[in-house]
Amino acid sequence: MTRDFAVLLLSITQLSSANPLPGHLKFAPAKFSPTLPSTGGPTSLPSTNLTLQYIALGRGIQNYTCASLCSAPVALGAVATLYDATTLAKTNEALLNTMPGKAVMIPPSRDGYDLPPPANNLRVLGHHYFAADSTPTFNLTAVNKILFGKKNGDIPAPVGAPKGPSGNGAVDWLSLVEKPDYSESVGLGQVYRVETAGGNPPAACSSTGVVSVQYAAEYWFYA
Ligand SMILES: *[C@@H]1O[C@H](CO)[C@@H](O)[C@H](O)[C@H]1NC(C)=O
Ligand SMILES: *[C@@H]1O[C@H](CO)[C@@H](O)[C@H](O)[C@H]1NC(C)=O
Ligand SMILES: *[C@@H]1O[C@H](CO)[C@@H](O)[C@H](O)[C@H]1NC(C)=O
Repeated sequence: MTRDFAVLLLSITQLSSANPLPGHLKFAPAKFSPTLPSTGGPTSLPSTNLTLQYIALGRGIQNYTCASLCSAPVALGAVATLYDATTLAKTNEALLNTMPGKAVMIPPSRDGYDLPPPANNLRVLGHHYFAADSTPTFNLTAVNKILFGKKNGDIPAPVGAPKGPSGNGAVDWLSLVEKPDYSESVGLGQVYRVETAGGNPPAACSSTGVVSVQYAAEYWFYA
């Protein structure tokens, strides 16, 4: 219905205008693109002037270190597998947004992660991890692209975001841009982590060493 209306509108515009439409108006009207969920509450992530490239469902762990009993865990890094959810986002974004909360509750198996349907047959787009110097890295091996990130936005997950199996709550929503003066990123300039599920540490350490917390999230890549 909406689409037909937009097509009609486009035809009328074309008919009534002597000048051809600018190239960017001819294809893929923005309203049919998935919309980045950029706010979890009173604050929003910074907007972007880049173009959406891929949307991934990420499933992995957030690591923290515990220096001593009862101290606050300190963020150490993360390791996640990124599954290509671009098509799912375009066809049913609402359904995609339910995936992180479900995926985080499925314990990892020997062979990796099992995802809930319809995400269970998504291809692996790449991996997210931290480089040796703690630079957050998004290595999209399936498309030969890589982003070395630097955080430029951070807001709490919405109240009621899926808490994950640990029950500690969902990690923040983030925006990361290409890290300046670093190894060159290839084909990617920004990523948002949104619709997070799980990943928060316990408030206080109950042991020392590394604490790993299960999480899932959506990663929206721009270039
Ligand atoms: C895009 O945004 C970045 C920072 O958000 C800014 O540095 C850059 O100048 C902007 N580019 C354009 C073409 O507006
Ligand atoms: C996180 O902890 C897991 C073990 O639970 C380990 O395999 C992984 O290398 C750690 N990664 C980072 C970045 O600390
Ligand atoms: C990205 O992943 C590929 C495949 O695992 C690996 O060969 C390459 O070294 C990685 N790149 C970086 C910068 O980590």
